[in-house]
Amino acid sequence: MMKKTEIIALPGDGIGPEVTGVAVEVLKIVCRQHNVELSVKEFPFGGTCYEQYGSPVTDEILDECKKAKVVLLGAVGGPKWDDLNADKRPEAALLKLRKELGVYANLRPIKVYPVLAGSSTLKKEVIEGTDILIIRELTGGIYFGKPRFTSEEGGDPFSVDTMKYSRSEVQRVAKVAFEAARLRSGKLCSVDKANVLESSRMWRKSVDELTDDYSDVKLSNMLVDNCAMQIIRDPKQFDVMVTGNMFGDILSDAASMLTGSLGMLPSASIGGKNGLYEPVHGSAPDIAGQGVANPLAAVASAALLCRYSLKMEEAAQTIEEAIKSLLQDGLRTGDLYAEEPGTRLVHTKEVSDYLINQIQAKEESAV
Ligand code: IPM
Ligand code: MN
Repeated sequence: MMKKTEIIALPGDGIGPEVTGVAVEVLKIVCRQHNVELSVKEFPFGGTCYEQYGSPVTDEILDECKKAKVVLLGAVGGPKWDDLNADKRPEAALLKLRKELGVYANLRPIKVYPVLAGSSTLKKEVIEGTDILIIRELTGGIYFGKPRFTSEEGGDPFSVDTMKYSRSEVQRVAKVAFEAARLRSGKLCSVDKANVLESSRMWRKSVDELTDDYSDVKLSNMLVDNCAMQIIRDPKQFDVMVTGNMFGDILSDAASMLTGSLGMLPSASIGGKNGLYEPVHGSAPDIAGQGVANPLAAVASAALLCRYSLKMEEAAQTIEEAIKSLLQDGLRTGDLYAEEPGTRLVHTKEVSDYLINQIQAKEESAV
């Protein structure tokens, strides 16, 4: 008997539909291999949803996501919607979705594939062997703090955002990080700006309070400016890192370059029983619709979906191995391509065909 599972796909804007399409196809195949019949319900999201419904997400779509508990997302945003009011912007839909799903811990693994070490702008010997897990707090901090407004003082307009963290908010994400560190090298680095910000001093104190419960994990604290520099100077010093919403946003983009391309980075956002899986990259409107986007971050996000939400570790590994073998065989989308012997420039479709063949061949050899 096939077990039935339903997930939601929100392809979104720009290259979102191209990369999500590949990820969904791959997911369906690995699920079938593990006796799971995956049904994928698709909805518009972000700019494409705004075009259809006048809002970047509707209550019905949010309800469907909450009901399904597992969501695979492409990317949102584009110049077409940049001038809309804050609440109509595609990004507002993404923040709302994260908040409503309660996915407070955003896991962003930064793993350098040995064959891509030459694709990075950084020196091979600096990045080779890098394997960092950035855990970014996702439903609090300056992205959500109140008050938040724009006003005017004596003819001079000004705006206010609020960075707020409570102990419970910090500790729930810190616990995810301590647990993850326990399963890896036992090292955790918490990143803040405690020399300046009150909310960061709360952050540091709240993380420190957990050390008794996790005495097997070695905790260090680092200031975010120093961390930005250390990631580039010596990335191998890091294993698990935990930080607030905005710092995590910035540090993970910086860290992505260690892997050769932002187009390689998957993410998993978890909390409670819900999971939201999305590539770290954006909608790349400049290359959208051309069939040249790198779908690997979306496909790797699908692997994380198998691991964390569907509890199908073997399926996750099958996907990850297919990605590894594709890179070893030299297939490179434009974002990764550098003229090197043994490599060739390919389109999204070729990546997709390769992955599907690889995964199906694995099944045949297992039978
Ligand atoms: C990310 C993105 C989003 C964020 C944007 C699109 C709202 O940059 O997931 O890193 O800032 O969280
Ligand atoms: Mn970002």
